[in-house]
Amino acid sequence: MLLPAGLLIGLLCLNRVGSAWGFARLLDDVELRSAFSVARTSSMEGGPKMTVTFDSVYVNIGGDFDAKSGLFRCRIPGAYYFSFTVGKFPHKDLSVMLMKNRNEVQAIVYEENAGEERKVQSQSVMLQLEFGDTVWLRLHGDPRYALYSNTGHYTTFNGYLVYPDVYGYQTDNQATDHVRPGMTDGEKELQMKEEEEEDEEDDQRSAFSVGRTQSIVGVNQLGMPQHQPVSFDTAFVNIGEDFNVTEGVFTCRIPGAYYFSFNVGKMPQKTLSVKLMKNRLEVQAMIYDDSQGEKALQSQSLMLSLKPGDTVWLYSHQRDGFGAYSNHAKYITFTGFLVYPQFPLKPTQSEIQKCSVIYC
Ligand SMILES: *[C@@H]1O[C@H](CO)[C@@H](O)[C@H](O)[C@H]1NC(C)=O
Repeated sequence: MLLPAGLLIGLLCLNRVGSAWGFARLLDDVELRSAFSVARTSSMEGGPKMTVTFDSVYVNIGGDFDAKSGLFRCRIPGAYYFSFTVGKFPHKDLSVMLMKNRNEVQAIVYEENAGEERKVQSQSVMLQLEFGDTVWLRLHGDPRYALYSNTGHYTTFNGYLVYPDVYGYQTDNQATDHVRPGMTDGEKELQMKEEEEEDEEDDQRSAFSVGRTQSIVGVNQLGMPQHQPVSFDTAFVNIGEDFNVTEGVFTCRIPGAYYFSFNVGKMPQKTLSVKLMKNRLEVQAMIYDDSQGEKALQSQSLMLSLKPGDTVWLYSHQRDGFGAYSNHAKYITFTGFLVYPQFPLKPTQSEIQKCSVIYC
């Protein structure tokens, strides 16, 4: 039996969608790469020159990080994940801030102890950057502060582009581009609605990064709602709006594998106990510190496989004697983003179009 030509081409296309899409992705990816990972092999004391510089470069894809000046400069607008780890110098305090541009503090690592010990502290956030934005680490300018590193590389700084701003996510601008003069209002509305739907279908992005500028103090109190999520007051990014900032809850929209990281300050004289929860009360990972120390940070990260409707949130133990520290510099941060949407994916309209150009 002869199949109609259209159907045959259709079948061929279906067969090829996977590889064509993969190929198209690969080409996009090469043009849209930006990643750096650097380390410092010497210690640094607080002084007038506060920018932390680096002398060991592991990765610098796109060349966007200048190790000598310590500046990452955004070339491809988009959402970037940054993480850093800093060594504490014996008998000094530690205070290193992640900065955006000249003076916008994004998050901090801090250890106020001036004890003799050496240890590391870590922090991570995702930032939405425009072309030319810079990101760097600032050591506190007072000589009471210092960071420690040696050939063991205590001090490291990493960043990479997770979601470039390309496929017309600013749908408002894009949609109006295609509205032609002479269209009736009804036609315009229809056109914009169709394009928005297409964009939404194409948008396999989900990411949030939030900070909290207030401490949390556990109290024994009758009538307090049990297991209240940690809420936030700063959103660095909220792509897809899947995170409710005031409520402190991420709700999965796109099924797949998500990366989560969180960092929490320890309060003097309080035990730190913060859990990463899934749905009602499924503990996934936790941070704990019952040392007698002063302010410091603890960090945790993991990946979860989520289905639509799953929720992820942080819980700080709500009893007397427990607490978590933060202030305007944002010790408490929580980040999550979709790494791989669940496979197999239904090919989207633009992928089918790409495929028909390449193969059909
Ligand atoms: C966040 O959650 C609160 C409480 O459930 C709700 O009132 C609010 O509308 C939500 N915000 C968004 C943006 O969905």
